[in-house]
Amino acid sequence: MSNRTFTMIKPDATAKGNTGAILSMINAAGFRIVAMKMTKLSKEKAGEFYAVHAARPFYGELVDFMSSGPITAAILEKENAVEDFRKLIGSTNPAEAAEGTIRKLFAASIGENAIHGSDSNENAAIEGNFFFSKLEQF
Ligand code: GTP
Ligand code: MG
Repeated sequence: MSNRTFTMIKPDATAKGNTGAILSMINAAGFRIVAMKMTKLSKEKAGEFYAVHAARPFYGELVDFMSSGPITAAILEKENAVEDFRKLIGSTNPAEAAEGTIRKLFAASIGENAIHGSDSNENAAIEGNFFFSKLEQF
């Protein structure tokens, strides 16, 4: 699975109508979409997805935000997918994100930062399986 990563276009980007532009950048950077769906996380599901951050002071805000509107979840394939995708999305805080990155272009703040990208091959597999059955992964 080392050639796959998982992403979510977050509720802020969905609300601003940036889903298409972001998917276009993802494709232009050489990632192939091998699973995709638009859905809305319940508070419970958002809490489960970000359970690793449960002890952080921003956890409640994060769960509220991630369940506030529709998201687009996808599994992406490319050589060195996890690392290359983190480069494409840029730093967590858009004020620190490099020029030309998705967060620099589309994120408003450290909380509402447009997009998620897995941080390891192991988490990419766990997160992809959280949203997609085996039959939905191509
Ligand atoms: P993800 O790709 O979404 O996992 O972001 P990341 O890996 O760049 O950052 P991290 O996993 O450390 O944090 C997960 C998410 O929590 C971030 O993307 C933000 O949406 C949110 N977050 C992180 N730090 C803060 C913060 O200080 N305040 C708020 N409100 N949200 C934060
Ligand atoms: Mg993270």
